[in-house]
Amino acid sequence: VADGTIPPLPSPQEVDVAVQVVHDHADRLFLWDYERDRGQLVKLYEKAMGSQWNSVTDLDWSVDVDPERLVSEQESPVLGVARVAGTLPGSPLASWGEREYLGLGIELFKAQLSQFVHGEQGAMMTAAKIVETVPWIDARYYASTQTMDEARHTEVFSKYLSSPPSVTCCGGRTSHCCRSSCAT
Ligand SMILES: [Fe+2]
Repeated sequence: VADGTIPPLPSPQEVDVAVQVVHDHADRLFLWDYERDRGQLVKLYEKAMGSQWNSVTDLDWSVDVDPERLVSEQESPVLGVARVAGTLPGSPLASWGEREYLGLGIELFKAQLSQFVHGEQGAMMTAAKIVETVPWIDARYYASTQTMDEARHTEVFSKYLSSPPSVTCCGGRTSHCCRSSCAT
C-alpha cells in the first residue's frame, strides 16, 4: 500500500465476498519450441512492446473531473426513462427534483464505469489464458503484452472510479464523493 504498511490477511468471510472462483478445464501448455516462425505475430509483438505506456506517469491524474458536469452534458438514456417515470401517477420519484436526478445520473455513471473495471479484468484473464494455452511461442509473447495492456486498463478504470485524486463534484467539494451519492 501507499504508506508501506502491510495489510492483514483477509478473513475467510472477506475472501468469500471479494473472490469469485471460476473453474475451467484448459490444459496449460509448456512449449519446448522457441522458433520465431510466425512473422505477423513477431511484428505485432514488437509493435506492442514499442507502444507500452505507463498508467501512472503517462496519464495526467491532476485533471479535475466534475461528475455533475459530465452527467449534465451527456445524460444517460436511463436517466431520461427515470424522468418520465417520475411523472407517472404514484411514482416514488414524484417528489424528485433536479438534484436527485443529478445524483441518480452520477450513480449510473459510476455503475457503468464499474462494469468496465470488471470487463477489463475479464479481458486480462482471457489474454492470460491465451498465454497459457496457445501452442506457438510468438502468439504467447504477443498475448503477454495484451495481458499487460488489459492490466493497465483495469487499473486505470479502478483508480478513476475509486479515488480520483482531484475529483470535484457536489458544487466543488473535493473528496471521494463520487463513491457515494452527491445528492446526500
Ligand atoms: Fe481493455
